[in-house]
Amino acid sequence: MSEFIFNPYRRQSPSWDDPVFAPFKNDDIMPFHTSLPGYHPTPLIALPALAQKLGVKEIRVKDESHRFDLAAFKVLGASYAIYRFLKAHLGAEGESVSDMAELVRDLLAGKYAGRFLFCTATDGNHGRAVAWTARNFHQRAVIYMPQGTVEARIRNIEAEGAEVNIVAGSYDETVRRAAKEASRNGWQVIADTGYDGYMTIPGYIMAGYLTMFREMEGIVHHPDEPGVDLVFLQSGVGSLAAAAVWYYVHRYGSNRPTLISVEPTAAACLYDSIRYGAGEMTVAHGDSKTIMAGLNCGTPSLAAWPIIKDGIDLFLAITDDWAAKAMRTYYHPEGADPQIISGESGSAGLAACLALLEDSSMAEARRQLNIGSDTRVLLLNTEGATDPVNFAKIIAA
Ligand SMILES: Cc1ncc(COP(=O)(O)O)c(C=O)c1O
Repeated sequence: MSEFIFNPYRRQSPSWDDPVFAPFKNDDIMPFHTSLPGYHPTPLIALPALAQKLGVKEIRVKDESHRFDLAAFKVLGASYAIYRFLKAHLGAEGESVSDMAELVRDLLAGKYAGRFLFCTATDGNHGRAVAWTARNFHQRAVIYMPQGTVEARIRNIEAEGAEVNIVAGSYDETVRRAAKEASRNGWQVIADTGYDGYMTIPGYIMAGYLTMFREMEGIVHHPDEPGVDLVFLQSGVGSLAAAAVWYYVHRYGSNRPTLISVEPTAAACLYDSIRYGAGEMTVAHGDSKTIMAGLNCGTPSLAAWPIIKDGIDLFLAITDDWAAKAMRTYYHPEGADPQIISGESGSAGLAACLALLEDSSMAEARRQLNIGSDTRVLLLNTEGATDPVNFAKIIAA
């Protein structure tokens, strides 16, 4: 059953001064992304017919399935973290790194080829992003994936020239294995989740995600008004949601939109931490069986948690049938709305929106949010059809 909890720990005017959050203030994030080959802002798509059907004013979808031909948003974080790592290490070795454009040009041209090996655990999208960045910067990558990962996701990573190793265990076990192998071999871990002793890179990764929100400035996020009322943020370890919270709190303060975290009920580590953990991080209570592979994470990121706890308004945990319904809703659009290709995790924002508006278990949440014909909804389609076999089955159902 889908569930919700309003955040009792939410603060009206939070501020975060831990050094792990310092990268959020960097002014080179978007200039870095725009200097990468193939950069263009992902589209922000309006779905007026669906909005009318659901009884809200607007539904807009930031469509990350078009991000650098990688079909997911994750490269915004991985590329920026790898760039900052290379800048720090090459700088320490006496290389000229102060000019960003020049350093990126040098990296892309292979000036520092083969100096570093990057390693990470992934259920697909983040590993592909690390492998893509490593290839573009002429470095090596070794990627660990949990058993049961679909073939297409493995092949996509191998196509970027990375070595893929399958771990006989869960995603969390895969994270531990990647860290162990990296420390044994002297590799650099690029993990999108923070844990004790490993916080710097996850800080850069979260900061990299800011580009997604900044691209909406001038279109919908006006200087004095966010232009949206509800923002649905699908969460695995919470890095994306934390970036969103940081962005909206800093740009709009108490005038920020309502921020909603969405997880599968089978792996709802943020929801469970709020509901059962007295506001402390807990491991997810579910059985980790979900089609939303990108969100199938048992432990929140230690680097994201303080921001999540202070800034998310509502935590939703939804069942897989809502994700499948959302994929079909995107694929077979209402009226003249454009078609959107959205994978299981990519569609979770719309899935939660549908559940919130239609599921009887959500009636109280609907009432408290006062959703109606004035409500403007922002969804992030965080991935395209990254598992084409399952995608074809779901949209045909
Ligand atoms: C498609 C997709 N959406 C959302 C997320 C959630 O991001 P995070 O783990 O930062 O919460 C992921 C994570 O891998 C993902 O792959």
